[in-house]
Amino acid sequence: MNISKFVAPEIIFGRGSLSQIGESVLRIGASKIFLVSDSGVIEAGWVDQAVHYLQAAGLETEIFSALTSNPKDCEVMEGVRRYQASGCDGIVAVGGGSPTDVAKAIAILASNGGTLPDYEGINKISRPLPPMVIAPSTSGAGSEVSQFAIIVDTARKLKMSIISKSLVPDIAIVDPELVQTMDAKLAAATGLDAFTHGIESYVSLAATPLTDIHALKAIQLASRNLRRAVADREDMEANTNMAMASLTAGLAFSNAILGATHAMTHQVDGLIDQHHGETNASILPFVMEFNLSACPERFRDIAEAMGEDVTGLSLVAAAQQAVVAVRRLIADIGLAKGLGDIGLTEEFIPLLSANAMKDACLVTNPRPASQEDIAEIFRKCL
Ligand SMILES: [Fe+2]
Repeated sequence: MNISKFVAPEIIFGRGSLSQIGESVLRIGASKIFLVSDSGVIEAGWVDQAVHYLQAAGLETEIFSALTSNPKDCEVMEGVRRYQASGCDGIVAVGGGSPTDVAKAIAILASNGGTLPDYEGINKISRPLPPMVIAPSTSGAGSEVSQFAIIVDTARKLKMSIISKSLVPDIAIVDPELVQTMDAKLAAATGLDAFTHGIESYVSLAATPLTDIHALKAIQLASRNLRRAVADREDMEANTNMAMASLTAGLAFSNAILGATHAMTHQVDGLIDQHHGETNASILPFVMEFNLSACPERFRDIAEAMGEDVTGLSLVAAAQQAVVAVRRLIADIGLAKGLGDIGLTEEFIPLLSANAMKDACLVTNPRPASQEDIAEIFRKCL
């Protein structure tokens, strides 16, 4: 018997929905809130707004914002210390993938003890986490609905994938107003990350009809709105559609998992401190080419979801059209560069490839990949 599961939090979506955060936290039973964010989101004024709504609901808050752009284990450890000293009984994150994943990692260690590598992989968390509400300020990570937390292990210089149902927050508040304050470069990188989540979950070995709906919707929305959202940061229709693209991609990959692109990206991200979405842009087309023979029908669907006319083309030609369209999208949003352009050289490839083989995301890649296959793809990405 084929059994599939689909997990998702309560989702509140729409412009102005951050105003629901106080009432949401009251419903999950918390009284003092540990609010995780970062300096950019504070500068944009969203943390002040969130605190205003939380205080209006009678809730105390403690803010933790000592974070960098790629969430690191040392930042999590400091957060755990602060959480435990604060007397807080609930966690809220307002921010992009870094604050949200750090919030989740703090929740793991505060309730389960140990260190983060103890939970690396799938379903290693045994005790319940503090209640969590997440409001994303970027359209990319999908962490507000996902069972993933991705944290840099600074000693091993790689990103750990921690995947567990208990990491799905209780409530996701997706307010497209928040994403409008991203600059164009961040909009491009985060949007390409969301798009990559849609592609990888659609061709994943763990895809189901329920994840397919969300993956295809994410691909469709991102391919029609990402260029606009990058070109004009005031375009609220594009911003709202990208917020929905990120949300639907999050629902898809949380349940279908990802593939070789993310297994490889996680290793590069641990080594070079650039945005995860930019690394995806350098790797995704090459992984699509590698995977194409395993499921050409799926890649033809992707081409169609991206608005490509595949009438009259053979199955393989239609599938290849998806790769062409992805390369065009990446170029149009200014992310077409190789891993060599960011300082990666041949000498790193054996270690990166060996570590990618251990990444949980590789398990659901549609085509089996050996370490040499991964190394060869890395070489093409340079
Ligand atoms: Fe990602």
